Amino acid sequence: MSNFQKKLEEIIRVDHAGEFGAKVIYDGQMVALKMKKDYETLKIVKHMKEQENVHYDYFNAEIKKQKIRPTLMQPIWRVGGFALGFFTALADKKAAMVCTTAVEETIDEHYQEQIKFLEKEDKFLDEQQKVEATNLKEKIKKFRDEELEHRDIAYDNHAADLKCFTPLSAFIKCTTKFAIAVSKRI
Ligand SMILES: [Fe+2]
Ligand SMILES: [Fe+2]
Repeated sequence: MSNFQKKLEEIIRVDHAGEFGAKVIYDGQMVALKMKKDYETLKIVKHMKEQENVHYDYFNAEIKKQKIRPTLMQPIWRVGGFALGFFTALADKKAAMVCTTAVEETIDEHYQEQIKFLEKEDKFLDEQQKVEATNLKEKIKKFRDEELEHRDIAYDNHAADLKCFTPLSAFIKCTTKFAIAVSKRI
């Protein structure tokens, strides 16, 4: 397998893991918001969750089509992501929004790196690889735009007004970066 093919697999595996994480975070938030009967916030989160479903479904289909092994960490991300979403939303609506700003800002950087990589590689690729790389890049660009929309929604909903915004945001960013690094490797 060429290095490029290996890198494509790594991109799909880590993005599949990331979108799975996003999905379960929002699942956790939605359960907590239902418990709190905060239907207004629930509606906002539901919109973002529906877009995450589309992102996840794309990478999941690619994983199956290209017979790529998903990250072995998926069961851990399922529990960890759900708990993160659940407890932030349970604690405070603004904490749930900080969870979104922190995760989406980290994913934004991560997707930007991938877009740059795919653009840089383009000139070394054969025709078929070019098609594959372009399709993937277009999807990542579209998803990135939606992640930025999620980030903006969370700031519009007062994420930055949370008293412990800075430490909570730093903690979640750190955790997300850690999850990305691990999902690339195993
Ligand atoms: Fe997403
Ligand atoms: Fe998102």
